[in-house]
Amino acid sequence: MQRILVTGGAGFIGCNFVHYIMEHTRLHVTVLDKLTYAGNLGSLAGLPPERYDFVKGDICDASLVDQLVAATDAVVHFAAESHNDNSLQEPRPFVDTNLVGTFTLIEAARKHGTRFHHVSTDEVYGDLALDDPARFTEESVYRPTSPYSATKAGSDMLVRAWVRSFGLQATISNCSNNYGPFQHVEKFIPRQITNVLDGARPRLYGNGLNVRDWIHVEDHSSAVAAILRNGRIGETYLIGADGERSNREVVEKILVRMGQPVESYDLVTDRPGHDVRYAIDSTKLRRELGWSPRYGDFDAGLADTVRWYQENEDWWRPQKADTESNYAKQGH
Ligand code: NAD
Ligand code: DAU
Repeated sequence: MQRILVTGGAGFIGCNFVHYIMEHTRLHVTVLDKLTYAGNLGSLAGLPPERYDFVKGDICDASLVDQLVAATDAVVHFAAESHNDNSLQEPRPFVDTNLVGTFTLIEAARKHGTRFHHVSTDEVYGDLALDDPARFTEESVYRPTSPYSATKAGSDMLVRAWVRSFGLQATISNCSNNYGPFQHVEKFIPRQITNVLDGARPRLYGNGLNVRDWIHVEDHSSAVAAILRNGRIGETYLIGADGERSNREVVEKILVRMGQPVESYDLVTDRPGHDVRYAIDSTKLRRELGWSPRYGDFDAGLADTVRWYQENEDWWRPQKADTESNYAKQGH
């Protein structure tokens, strides 16, 4: 394998994956990205031109996709509408990009016999109760609850069907909540860090007791790279780093790290249908592919992330005012 096509490479996880590939392999990377509000070319600045191309375009554009897939050895598919709150405001772009976009890509991959890796989420499995000892596994039943997670679940099903019916050379990964550099300020951790930097209070939905299973984005990248290299065709791998924390606990850690009183946050209107808890059992990935996370210590990863937002205001500042005015309309 010499060349890969990375969709959504100007987004949070996609750009971190591109940087990971540049550092750890000799592969040539072509990024295909529509540059929606979530895409940022600044996240890809400084990449070596002899190993990297950028194509601005839509994954729903069949002729562009066909041309790019024909010229690559593998596709790593990150592009998506990714934010639950937005999917509750305006679901249509989620159906277009997450379902029609994935369909367009796998049609091209099947035509050209191209290796395909589909990046998905643990949210396809719905949620778990706070007092339930269970965690999601590759055998968990699909029970998506939001327009975002329903379209991601649908995209997983399309990939599975194309593997079985057409022999598509595909793997799928479902990962838990990522944090780290280059994450849009609409998402939980960057929103709270940048609020504190702006002298505003962090905002917790509902009672703040919902639990997410946090993984550093670099560990997601290393897992996807391992699956691309050695994953078995047709298989699904869950990616997680045993990082369960309540939202309140995370906000308190951010406040303490940033020198603020631990209780200086507000409880705000809850998200409709708000999933209670996610938790990943990543035994299959660890046993089969020998993967393990490098960021075992959440506090250290969070400290790095706080520092990154402190040092990179030029990157996040242009997104902040619009994001907050959009949240204000939703009562968040
Ligand atoms: P993001 O919103 O930060 O980035 C998405 C990128 O896709 C942006 O650069 C955007 O411009 C691009 N894009 C959107 N629509 C497009 C289209 N029609 N054509 C081409 N490009 C388009 O998202 P993210 O958080 O980096 O998530 C990346 C992937 O990982 C998604 O598939 C998401 O479902 C999955 N995922 C995310 C998380 C998480 O915690 N963020 C966890 C598990 C899985
Ligand atoms: O589990 C993987 C998923 O994680 C990915 O598939 C999604 O793309 C990604 O956005 C993320 O989804 P969440 O809905 O869990 O992430 P979000 O950052 O929106 O919210 C995390 C938690 O924090 C959730 O319980 C809602 C809560 N929240 C969020 C915001 C923005 C707050 O309490 N306050 C906030 O201001």
